[in-house]
Amino acid sequence: MTKRSVISGTGSYLPAKILTNEALARMVDTSDEWIRERTGIHTRHILAEGETTSDMAVAACERALAAAGYSAGDIDGIVVATSTPDCSMPSVATKVQQKLGFTGAAVDVSAACTGFIYALATAHGWLQMGLAQRVLVVGAEAMSKIVNWNDRGTCILFGDGAGAVVLEVSENKPKRGIHALFLHANGALAPLLGTDGGVASSQTAGHLFMSGQEVFRHGVEKMAAATTHTLSTIDKTVADIDWLIAHQANARMIQKIAKNLSVPEEKCVVTVPFHGNTSAASIPLALDTAVRDGRVQPGHLIAMPALGAGLTWGACVLTY
Ligand code: UT7
Repeated sequence: MTKRSVISGTGSYLPAKILTNEALARMVDTSDEWIRERTGIHTRHILAEGETTSDMAVAACERALAAAGYSAGDIDGIVVATSTPDCSMPSVATKVQQKLGFTGAAVDVSAACTGFIYALATAHGWLQMGLAQRVLVVGAEAMSKIVNWNDRGTCILFGDGAGAVVLEVSENKPKRGIHALFLHANGALAPLLGTDGGVASSQTAGHLFMSGQEVFRHGVEKMAAATTHTLSTIDKTVADIDWLIAHQANARMIQKIAKNLSVPEEKCVVTVPFHGNTSAASIPLALDTAVRDGRVQPGHLIAMPALGAGLTWGACVLTY
């Protein structure tokens, strides 16, 4: 029987500190009205002093493990998508291993906001090749550490957080699991979004820059195309999906993608209003929210497209 890669638990974590639009308006020349109208965002969460990306990842993993009914000792692999690691090495993945107390394969994946899709593909490969049986797949980001807090064009958008899933081999759930993945990148578009520094260039993390309008246009076009393409590889169309869980960058962007695909708004999970753009954490955060509030049910077909710095983009289609 075909080995399936099935999500058996989801979890997420947002730091306690909330940064409102009103508070941002006291920091830069912006307003609650502008931010809500152009992005749909009301609040974002910010790491506490001393809190790190691996701390958030651990909290999300603990919740995913509890939801799946497992303990850390049942896990034999971890893939963490992040662009904001605690340190250059070791990886966030190994730090999570250390804090939760398990061993097995561990790696960080760097694909910016598309990171969770690349991480799912990595974990899916491990499971299908027999390198692991049960893997934590995580998106965790401390975006507040790389945002330029003087740039109103970007600082209003981003937030910190983490989301995780337990992905495991199953031979007993033929209809569930990952059906198709699509991964792509075009490095020629790198100047549109990134940081202005890094370990080997400035010996700092650098600060985030973005050509917002152009990234928005690529995001709408490429996330819609990635969704249609990935579904077509399994002879499905957008009419077959129960949920569109797109990268949560901007509520207006998700509305446009849904409109271009003729997906009704009721089938879109939109959590960006309360956590902002959490980069690689955004899709697992949105998935966990919709699982916990009962919208996403076992057997539902979900399309998850993403786009981020690189530019990278891709999509995953799975049955929860
Ligand atoms: O996660 C990776 C992918 N990232 C994204 O998908 C983000 C994609 N981009 C966006 O979400 C949007 O482009 C933004 C929300 C970042 C910006 O919205 P926009 O509608 O594209 O605004 P804009 O950059 O075209 O700026 C329009 C105007 C400008 O003023 P002028 O030149 O028309 O006078 C900006 O200076 O709005 C001004 N502006 C602001 N005004 C108040 C830009 N940021 C702000 C602000 N508050 N925070």
